[in-house]
Amino acid sequence: MSLNPFLIVAIDGGAASGKSSTARALAERFHFLHADTGSYYRALTAELLHRGVAATDPAAVRAELAELHFGTEVFLSSARLKIHGDKISNADIRSAAVNAAVSHFAALPEVRVTLLAYQRGLADVARKHDFRGLVMEGRDIGSVIFPHADCRFFLHADPVERVRRRAREGQADAVAERDRLDSSRENAPLTCPVGAVAIDSTHLSLPEVVEKLARQIFARLLKA
Ligand code: CDP
Repeated sequence: MSLNPFLIVAIDGGAASGKSSTARALAERFHFLHADTGSYYRALTAELLHRGVAATDPAAVRAELAELHFGTEVFLSSARLKIHGDKISNADIRSAAVNAAVSHFAALPEVRVTLLAYQRGLADVARKHDFRGLVMEGRDIGSVIFPHADCRFFLHADPVERVRRRAREGQADAVAERDRLDSSRENAPLTCPVGAVAIDSTHLSLPEVVEKLARQIFARLLKA
């Protein structure tokens, strides 16, 4: 076993499938940096909407993206996207307007290319901050961003249960509609990558899901 293995863990799954809570818990347990890439797509969407750009106008999106400067704030164990040095507030990235628009912006190749390099670069950010790994969650992490990640997981859950989870968080979110858009797009669609471990969390509690993933990460650490 190597003394200082640095692990990359990819967690993908549909809307409200439990990725964020699971990834956050794993980050704390293993001292990994946590990257919630959905929040990056949401922040970018909020910024583009604020600049009056629509997803139906890719040329305007391209022009605005060329103007933007990205940075990262590491706060506790999470990596937050900064645009022009500012964080976009949680309320802004979870607004109804962003919920409705994010999958349309996320389907644009120019948006995905912009975030691809940024997301890959977070492995270096994690190393620089002395984390022992990176746990990144999203839709295309195990398929496109880190196809050779040390551990790749795919979380899914019954859609009715997922809508219930969002409602418990006080949010009305078109979970099924976002999944439909995310799964049917041409670029980096939401899919369970070949070789990823699929976990159905419909009847599992959060600690039970975390335990399942943690066991596999431990096994991988022992092999490193
Ligand atoms: O939290 P929730 O599961 O509702 O969604 P999210 O992870 O915040 O992601 C919001 C949206 O960003 C998704 O519906 C996708 O359209 C997009 N996304 C993506 O395309 N690729 C990723 N790696 C992460 C998010």
